[in-house]
Amino acid sequence: MQSESTSRNEKLHVGIIMDGNGRWATRRGLSRVRGHEAGVETIRRIVEAAPKQGIGTLTLYAFSADNWRRPRAEVAALMTLLRFYLANEVQSLVRNGVRLTVIGRRDRLPDGIATAITRAEEATARGSALHLRIAVDYSARDAILNAAAKAAALTSLTREAFSQLVTGEAGLRDVDLIIRTSGEKRLSDFLLWEGAYAELHFTERMWPEFDASDLTAALAAFHGRERRFGGLRAIVPEEVPSLSRV
Ligand code: IPE
Ligand code: IPE
Ligand code: MG
Repeated sequence: MQSESTSRNEKLHVGIIMDGNGRWATRRGLSRVRGHEAGVETIRRIVEAAPKQGIGTLTLYAFSADNWRRPRAEVAALMTLLRFYLANEVQSLVRNGVRLTVIGRRDRLPDGIATAITRAEEATARGSALHLRIAVDYSARDAILNAAAKAAALTSLTREAFSQLVTGEAGLRDVDLIIRTSGEKRLSDFLLWEGAYAELHFTERMWPEFDASDLTAALAAFHGRERRFGGLRAIVPEEVPSLSRV
């Protein structure tokens, strides 16, 4: 079982639903694309701030499998931003010890992006200050469905083994905290398996205006919560008799 301890000494896994780019821009009389561009600046700020705030793994929701429903021009602009991010950001990620992995489907992305992702993952593979996971063409339900299809061939299955099939990684820490900006209060198909016991934090701030102090505030609220994992006080699940067989 992955550790779900709430100890302040353990590095947290935080997921962020980066929402509100479009509304932020529209309210300023700007195009939605300008909002997405501003959102990339926020990603830079938060990736820099995260390791200093006790975050070991940061999963950012950049493009959902349902976002293909948006107008073609907006989708194209988002893909261009992703391409630029992968091309321009790798050096700074390496310098800051950030390991980048991208989760979600790669086969529907425009030409060249899948290759750029693989290159960025390889170039940053040794980073140990922060594990940055960017979710692109991502659907949590599809991740679970694909894992189930693979699991069907196995004769025995544990939660750890199934987690690895869902997340693509052995020993990935469950998500401790999911933050959503822009005032929406839903998960929109994000980290449904890994976030089973995640604390949820919703803020009215739009993603382009979210900054390190907002992250600090979200983490302070998180540390003020008592996580019980079904028990009566904050416990480490390893103390519980094993329930890992399904
Ligand atoms: C989040 O901002 C970014 C993506 C979903 C790609 P939105 O584009 O959803 O912004 P709003 O919700 O329309 O304001
Ligand atoms: C969720 O935001 C996806 C990302 C932030 C990438 P959406 O704006 O697409 O979600 P809904 O449609 O409001 O649920
Ligand atoms: Mg939105």
